[in-house]
Amino acid sequence: MLSKSMVGKLNNQIDLESFSSNLYLQMSAWAGTKGLEGCAAFLRAQAKEELAHMHRLFKYVQETGSLPVVGSIEAPPTEFNSISDLFQQVLNHEKKITGKINELMDSAQQENDHSTVHFLQWYVSEQHEEEHSIQQVLDKIHNIGESGSGVYFIDRAIGGMLRKR
Ligand code: FEO
Repeated sequence: MLSKSMVGKLNNQIDLESFSSNLYLQMSAWAGTKGLEGCAAFLRAQAKEELAHMHRLFKYVQETGSLPVVGSIEAPPTEFNSISDLFQQVLNHEKKITGKINELMDSAQQENDHSTVHFLQWYVSEQHEEEHSIQQVLDKIHNIGESGSGVYFIDRAIGGMLRKR
């Protein structure tokens, strides 16, 4: 049985994961309009993963006999200045999510809620992997450079990362 406060926090995280999914889906649309098919596919895959993160939380809350609540979420931005601007925003967002997962973990530990601590461990690992993967994307963008045909090679490189996952 989860505490009321823990259910509220997990439900907030459900909304954050939904927002992440919408954010990356919207970003994929921006990439698509720029002809960046590799980036668009990478971001669509990210959006699907975020939806899976949301469902994982939803299922956990339900399994503990509490009520998962899907709240309202704000609309994501639609315009980005460049590929590096977009992926820097992804990294900033993921860092924010990592902070939220860490706060959740702190609360679960303070409450001696071992079940939730165990459940959240998957998210801790996932955040580490996601931050690492997006940092790799940013490194590629900076190494190749966005001038001239750089954009074409960046798009290929990011599309290639998707195939390796
Ligand atoms: Fe579900 Fe990328 O955090």
